[in-house]
Amino acid sequence: MKFFVDTADIKEIKELNDLGMLDGVTTNPSLILKSGGNILDVTRQICEIVQGPVSAEVTATDYDGMMREAKVLAAIADNIAIKVPLTWDGLRACRALRAEGRMVNVTLCFSANQALLAAKAGATFISPFIGRIDDMGIDGVELISEIRAIYDNYDFKTEILAASVRTVNHVKQVAMIGADVATVPPATLKALVKHPLTDKGLEAFLADWAKTGQKIG
Ligand code: G3P
Repeated sequence: MKFFVDTADIKEIKELNDLGMLDGVTTNPSLILKSGGNILDVTRQICEIVQGPVSAEVTATDYDGMMREAKVLAAIADNIAIKVPLTWDGLRACRALRAEGRMVNVTLCFSANQALLAAKAGATFISPFIGRIDDMGIDGVELISEIRAIYDNYDFKTEILAASVRTVNHVKQVAMIGADVATVPPATLKALVKHPLTDKGLEAFLADWAKTGQKIG
């Protein structure tokens, strides 16, 4: 499973990229707002750091407007994936952008039927928002299973990009189901390495090592 980081924070992106764990980045208008920067500047800086797909979202809601904005965003770098909302205009823009050879991430997916439409429109990525479904008291992870089954039935090539991931348990669950990508907030991504027994074990090994009085090299 690929790891994308769900942020527009340049410092966090640099740090995670240096760990060698980053396969891409996803942004959205809310994350751009949080970054405090200009969408074009911030996205350009991200593309200078990360080689993999960097999702940048259109804000127009009509087909022509989406296509206009997509052109501006795509000009930033070759690794831009244009993010469009899961609406009829968004799906139409998805098909047109794919025909132009662009990567497209169809976002704000909350049902398996929406994901089926995105695959039929040739989306590169579909982004089901699992955390926001959990917020409604429904199991968001179940949606990933449904989409996996549908895509496998028809051999759709669209990658399932689990989004609105909030916990390390979400990451494990979507990996077990076979999501192709999880886009994860920086803090959750960093938390994946943590286990109290790892810390405790390391502490004990270091204490015993100190008692040997030895040094390696
Ligand atoms: O990946 C989509 C994400 O940015 C939305 O996350 O936590 O606002 O539902 P959240």
